[in-house]
Amino acid sequence: MKRILSGIQPSGALHLGNYLGMMRPAVELQQQGEALYFIADLHALTSLHDADALRRHSRDVALDFLACGLDPSRALLFRQSDIPKISLLSWILSTVTPMGLLERCHSYKDKTARGLAATHALFSYPVLMAADILIYDSDIVPVGKDQKQHLEVTRDIAVKMNETFGDIFKLPEPSIREDAAVVPGTDGAKMSKSYGNTIEIFAEEKAMRKKFMGIVTDSTPVEAPKDPESSSIYQLYRLFSSADDAAAMAERFRAGGTGYGDFKKQLFGTVWEYFAPMRAKRAELEADPGYVDGILRTGAEKANAIAEKVMARVEAAVGLR
Ligand code: ADP
Ligand code: TRP
Repeated sequence: MKRILSGIQPSGALHLGNYLGMMRPAVELQQQGEALYFIADLHALTSLHDADALRRHSRDVALDFLACGLDPSRALLFRQSDIPKISLLSWILSTVTPMGLLERCHSYKDKTARGLAATHALFSYPVLMAADILIYDSDIVPVGKDQKQHLEVTRDIAVKMNETFGDIFKLPEPSIREDAAVVPGTDGAKMSKSYGNTIEIFAEEKAMRKKFMGIVTDSTPVEAPKDPESSSIYQLYRLFSSADDAAAMAERFRAGGTGYGDFKKQLFGTVWEYFAPMRAKRAELEADPGYVDGILRTGAEKANAIAEKVMARVEAAVGLR
């Protein structure tokens, strides 16, 4: 059986890009193998130094994941920091990781360019991510396209380890959905917390409507034909509707006579309805904190059992045991 693994940073409220790029595929994949999903709180520390906010976001991500369909009878859910050997493996991996490999990573350059402090942790972030993946002998890693390079780094580090110490690790494969590889934000650029162009999946109705109505459009007049493919309204709608409904909207774009405002309203209505059952589930879960704690505890126990086995192999191979 294939082992599927992914993580998400608790650095803020989840948005449509996180949901479509990572969470929805991860939930779908839990049917196809042994799934492990975790809250990457150690990674979040690279950008968030506010203890209360980190605790709150970590809890929110757990609620979001469960509300969006993570089935605890099929998939494990746990906090990264509950797996102590991650940090040990990260150190071991860093001893074979060439500086040049990390220097090539876009993420460090992008994040420091946007004002994040140029810390050692931000620079070595891909090594910690490699440890997350390799410590469970993961086969498949569902992520958005922006994480593709980190998977390549993980594979390079695994190959280096195998060359240096003998066959220790298997090489994981990313799973990237082409249709949701880069979900556009309200300004048409990649939706991202750091660009201020996000639509949060569990926003209040009024706030969510406002975000949709604020999607940036060109100045094509109401009566003129419009190109669906170049519009983020249509690109988002397509990801939440049936093929028939998407084709119908594309047709109305091309026909002219409908303004962007009407398309935005239709998109908002569809997305609001789409998340209705998940909002209800989330409210239920929020009322029962003990239940969520129990899931995280069980998840950590089972994940640790897998990690310990792999680490026994690693520690023996490198000579620590
Ligand atoms: P952000 O860019 O908002 O900080 P993260 O880097 O925390 O988002 O991403 C968490 C997960 O969501 C990753 O797997 C990432 O690839 C995916 N993801 C984030 N934004 C998008 C997007 N706009 N389109 C597709 N996937 C995305
Ligand atoms: N770096 C990922 C992100 O920013 C989160 C993450 C950490 C992750 N460790 C992982 C994703 C391991 C997949 C597998 O979204």
